[in-house]
Amino acid sequence: MNNIFRKKQVADLLMETTPLKRTLHTLDLTFLGIGAIIGTGIFVLTGKGALTAGPALSLSFLLAAICCGFAGLCYAEFASMAPVAGSAYTYSYVAFGEVIAFIIGWDLILEYALGAATVSVGWSGYFVNLLDNVGIHIPTVLTAAAGTTPGVTTIFNLPAFLIVLVITWIISIGINQTKRVNDTMVLIKLAVIVLFIICTVWFIKPHNWTPFSPYGLYSFNHGTAAGIIPAASIVFFSFIGFDSVASSAEETVNPSKTLPRGILLSLLISTVLYIIMTLIMTGVVKYTIFTKYLNAPILAVLHSTGQTWLSIIVSIGAILGMTTVILVQLYGQSRICYSMSRDGLFPKFFGDVNPKYQTPFKGTWFFGIITAFAGGFINLNILSELVNIGTLTAFILVSAGILWMRKTNPEVHRGFKAPGVPFTPIIAIIFCLTLIAGLNWETWVRFILWFAVGMLIYFFYARKHSKLNA
Ligand code: ALA
Repeated sequence: MNNIFRKKQVADLLMETTPLKRTLHTLDLTFLGIGAIIGTGIFVLTGKGALTAGPALSLSFLLAAICCGFAGLCYAEFASMAPVAGSAYTYSYVAFGEVIAFIIGWDLILEYALGAATVSVGWSGYFVNLLDNVGIHIPTVLTAAAGTTPGVTTIFNLPAFLIVLVITWIISIGINQTKRVNDTMVLIKLAVIVLFIICTVWFIKPHNWTPFSPYGLYSFNHGTAAGIIPAASIVFFSFIGFDSVASSAEETVNPSKTLPRGILLSLLISTVLYIIMTLIMTGVVKYTIFTKYLNAPILAVLHSTGQTWLSIIVSIGAILGMTTVILVQLYGQSRICYSMSRDGLFPKFFGDVNPKYQTPFKGTWFFGIITAFAGGFINLNILSELVNIGTLTAFILVSAGILWMRKTNPEVHRGFKAPGVPFTPIIAIIFCLTLIAGLNWETWVRFILWFAVGMLIYFFYARKHSKLNA
């Protein structure tokens, strides 16, 4: 039997590196990170989060941020050891061997493809609202997946479906998001958030914050998990994306310093903004009102303060902001498939580079279409929680990878060493497990099914076709 734990060597990886120009500095990486991080999590999932934790939602954000901070340090160490594209998939090929790398790659596909689907649903909510504001009405049946809005008949989320197809097209013909476009979008996104904060902070009524934590750390409310931990498990989604900073290791000036700084700064800025925003949201209105605003909870605040003009500006900012997130995720998705196909773990089809566009065209469209249908037909909560469990699992493997690599490969050069090892990865793992525990059991079952399908593909296809057989 072929050894399923065979590994790539760090030296092999370095040979695979493409000679890209090193142009990115700390500020560029921070913008890249914020571009990928701030999206549906804060603009949409805060509604469900507030219903789950009450005003203590800000603490849930803090908990999720701490988890990501520790995992982020581990990502940064791996990235500085093997500064090549492919992120956690590539790292685990070196640390643990092929089968684990396959699992992570399969996991990242879940993270990126369903992540993009989730964000497209969030995008659609704000888009439909914006159109309503200017008097254009999309038939309600075409604005959400079936069964997502109690008492309203919906069938299909057409805007979510279409935005994924448009972005798939953009990526497939090789219009990569340029730094300038990303920077502009990030500035707009930040400006809109700051504007929201400045205009609404005056309307806080402190009595809305009591009781601050109606469901405690973890409890049950009408049979569903509630409290700070379950809400953290939901809003963890808001931080996904900082790993895209690690993926740009090859294009970074002095990666050993800039990468960890970029990762931690983008996390820090997002965390501060998230905490201020959630304190405002739960301070201006009673958190229970979000039941009626699950698609666009920010609008609950603006309607209650009477600032309808601002809701149009915020909607546009949210739509642009979420567009960049979808772009980053679909791009990451197509590149992971490409790497896995190049390594022989996926059929050649996915790695075929189109001669005209110089992109993995077919693979991009294959998953783009699946993602579009997922966004059209599946409920946001199901999607986001699956993405969270997949990403948390990847974080656990990356953190464990650092422990393992320090033990087995102490001599490999590391541009950046995570401080506090072994505690840093161990704390990251404990936080990730806690957040996984806060997700509902249906999500665990769905994830196990996804995992099982991946294992079938590995044992019946990937193991036999792996390039390492040669
Ligand atoms: N963190 C990203 C978002 O919230 C995925 O949209």
